[in-house]
Amino acid sequence: MNKLTASKIVKSYQSGDYQTEVLSNISISISEGDLIGVIGSSGSGKTTLLQILAGLETPDHGNILFNDINLSSNNAKNFNLMRVDLFGYAYQFHYLLDDLTVFENCNLVFKIANNKNVNENSQQIIRILDELGIASLQDKYPYMLSGGERQRVAIARAVVHEPKFVLMDEPTGNLDQENAEVIQNLTIKLAQNHNIGIVVATHDLNYAGKLDTVFRIENGDLKSTENE
Ligand SMILES: Nc1ncnc2c1ncn2[C@@H]1O[C@H](COP(=O)(O)OP(=O)(O)OP(=O)(O)O)[C@@H](O)[C@H]1O
Ligand SMILES: [Mg+2]
Repeated sequence: MNKLTASKIVKSYQSGDYQTEVLSNISISISEGDLIGVIGSSGSGKTTLLQILAGLETPDHGNILFNDINLSSNNAKNFNLMRVDLFGYAYQFHYLLDDLTVFENCNLVFKIANNKNVNENSQQIIRILDELGIASLQDKYPYMLSGGERQRVAIARAVVHEPKFVLMDEPTGNLDQENAEVIQNLTIKLAQNHNIGIVVATHDLNYAGKLDTVFRIENGDLKSTENE
C-alpha cells in the first residue's frame, strides 16, 4: 500500500525583518484510502503543509517520503514525472488556465503525463464533471464561471486522473451548502471506492466531522482533535 510520510517538517517565511516559523516540527503519514482533515485558524499553515506534502514547496528541514523514496533528496528528480500521476492538488485559489476551456483544463494532466488514451480520458473527464454537476460547462472558459463553479473545476482537475493522493485546499470555501455536500460526498467516495489518500484543509467543521481523522495546526504543531 502506498504511503506518503512527512517527517519533522520545519518551514519559516521571511516577511520584512521578521522570520516567522509557520510549521515547527510536523510529522504526518497518509496511506491510500485515508481521509484526513487539517483545520486551524487563518494563517496557521494549512496551505503551507499541503504544498509541502505535494512537493510544491520545499521545507527548511525534514523529509517527505513516498513509500521509501525521499522526495527531498536529489534522487527524487526522476520522481517529478511520476508526481503528476500520483498527486492531485486542488488549489485554494483555483489557478485554472484562462485560455483553456473547462474540459481542456481537466485534460491538461493527461497531456503532461503524455497519456494518449484520448477516448478513455475524455469519458473520464465528462464522468467527473457530471458527478460534480458541471458537465454542461465543459466548453466554457474560466472567466465565464462563478467562483463556486471554478472551484468545482479545480477539484475535477485534481481528481480526474485518479491519483494515489489528493490534496484539497478549502475545496468547499466558496460553495453553497448543497454544492459543498456534493464535494464532501465526492471526497468520501474517492477515498472509500478508489482508495485515494486525501488531505483536506478546511474551515468547515461540518465537513471535518465527516472525515476519518482531523488534525489542528496550532502554533506550528499538528495536534490531534480527538479529545476536542
Ligand atoms: N510565500 C510566502 N511568503 C511569506 N509568507 C508566507 C508565504 N506563504 C505563506 N506565508 C505566511 O505563512 C503563514 C501561513 O500561511 P498559510 O497560507 O499556510 O495559512 P493557512 O492556514 O492556509 O491560512 P488560510 O486559512 O487563510 O488559507 C501566514 O502567516 C502567511 O502569511
Ligand atoms: Mg490556506
